[in-house]
Amino acid sequence: MAVIGCGTLGTAITRGILDPLDKSTVDIERLIATVGTEPSKRRVEEEFSQHSSRLEVLLQKDNVHAIQEADVVLFAVKPVKREDVFGTPGVREALRGKLILSIMAGISTTELKRLTGSGEQDQSLPLQVVRAMPNMAANIREAMTLYTANTETLSKENLKIASWVFNQVGQSQLAAESNFDISAVLVGCAGSLLLLAIDGLLDAAVAEGVKRPEAQNFIMNSAIGIMKLVPAGNHPSVLREKIASPGGCSIRALLELEKRGVRSAYTDAIMTAAERSKRTSES
Ligand SMILES: NC(=O)c1ccc[n+]([C@@H]2O[C@H](COP(=O)([O-])OP(=O)(O)OC[C@H]3O[C@@H](n4cnc5c(N)ncnc54)[C@H](OP(=O)(O)O)[C@@H]3O)[C@@H](O)[C@H]2O)c1
Repeated sequence: MAVIGCGTLGTAITRGILDPLDKSTVDIERLIATVGTEPSKRRVEEEFSQHSSRLEVLLQKDNVHAIQEADVVLFAVKPVKREDVFGTPGVREALRGKLILSIMAGISTTELKRLTGSGEQDQSLPLQVVRAMPNMAANIREAMTLYTANTETLSKENLKIASWVFNQVGQSQLAAESNFDISAVLVGCAGSLLLLAIDGLLDAAVAEGVKRPEAQNFIMNSAIGIMKLVPAGNHPSVLREKIASPGGCSIRALLELEKRGVRSAYTDAIMTAAERSKRTSES
């Protein structure tokens, strides 16, 4: 396997597949990770020093070599780097017949097809490409990763490999590409919007005299518990109603937020992000 762009997310996925939770479905014999700069190379080598017999870390000039050596190639560079990466002589040829996984945000399978020059390839070898959107919780194997592919042309074996890769950093789910942009935004950035709320709550706690680490512990543990009630079968607005008892403090706090339009601000923010993702996908 090759990981092209072993940065924050690439490192999390590399960690997951070098030390997999599921050791029986797929066995990665050897992994080559590439990065842009020497300091990143040292960082990745240090982090995975215990896997040095199976892992090689190279610089971007060796992307072609890394791809040539691999059966599965994960692209985890920033989307703005894609033209440089795919435009390097030899990359497109080296990718032929391989399973290509991409976590580049907003980069559609159509764009991946263009980048890999698959139109110019032998049509008897349909492009094996999977577009995915994990989130930062991959760092602690708690990510939700959505992935999409043309399931008419992607082989069952490659679908199994893709799902295995993403399952090593949390849960994964296959989704249709038609609504991938909004779904990917929910997975990739909805959590960070909720962090803004956590930050505001922490400020209030500190202003009222609670130490930040202590308040963080209270807020996170109680919020995680409440959130888990939703997949357990409770609709968020029913929960809101159950928590807000008549004359109590919760209803006053909720009304304060609603007066300020916080609910619709969240809706608008996600729709803006989805629109942006769609524009990138279509450009
Ligand atoms: N961060 C998120 O929460 C998140 C969530 C979902 C999807 N994504 C997507 O995941 C991808 C990676 O994001 P990230 O946050 O992990 O970014 P990142 O930390 O900046 O990682 C990018 C890596 O690519 C390396 N790189 C740069 N140019 C390269 C080249 N030509 N060849 C090989 N490697 C190269 C960089 O090395 P140097 O640093 O040494 O230049 C760095 O290690 C992006 O496409 C992003 O859209 C991110």
